Amino acid sequence: MIVCVCNRITESELRKAARAGACTPDKAYACHDCEVQCGCCLDYAQEVIDEEVGALPKLRLVSSRAA
Ligand code: FES
Repeated sequence: MIVCVCNRITESELRKAARAGACTPDKAYACHDCEVQCGCCLDYAQEVIDEEVGALPKLRLVSSRAA
């Protein structure tokens, strides 16, 4: 499904960019050498990104020092 009509960015492309670390639509679009144009897609694009980031396993930081 196309999320951004102006840039022809699909939901799966957006999810892939989110998994690669893009936390906002403009950063995700930059991964595809695009930039926000009309802005109509931003709310839904952010929802998709938030959903994808929320689905990622959380990393746990472990200290090498003994407590
Ligand atoms: S629909 Fe995404 S910038 Fe226009």
